[in-house]
Amino acid sequence: MGKRLLLLNGPNLNMLGQREPETYGSATLKDVVDMVKEVCEQHGYELDYFQSNHEGDLIDRLQKANNEAAGIIFNPAAYTHTSIALRDAIAAINPPVVEVHISNVHKREEFRHHSMLAPVCLSQIVGFGVDGYWLAAMGLIQKIESEGRM
Ligand code: DQA
Repeated sequence: MGKRLLLLNGPNLNMLGQREPETYGSATLKDVVDMVKEVCEQHGYELDYFQSNHEGDLIDRLQKANNEAAGIIFNPAAYTHTSIALRDAIAAINPPVVEVHISNVHKREEFRHHSMLAPVCLSQIVGFGVDGYWLAAMGLIQKIESEGRM
């Protein structure tokens, strides 16, 4: 499997930087990828990344990561609140998944308060803006490395 993380982003996150900047900030998805890549490189990890607006494509990518990635950083966007299929996909694979939300979903509309995916994820990070992706990468690397030492 090796030292490899997957950064996965769901629907509308390709529009980061232009999309509701008062909620999601001005950083683009490329900025996010570059930031996570840098953390990975600093710790000797490689990064795969993928964004899709389609639920099935995200499921395919999770399944592909099963025997490739040591950990997965995933912002499922609106599918967080609806997708039993993504929940089952996460439950079916081995790598730990950290669910990331740029905004603090708990301060927003009621329908964003519930995550279908959180119960099958290692952790959930919300409300730190795009720095949440950085925190997720650091957390995953720390966990993977500390388990390797055990
Ligand atoms: C989001 C929060 C979701 O509720 C929303 O549908 C998104 C982005 C976030 O990163 O804050 O698309 O996942």
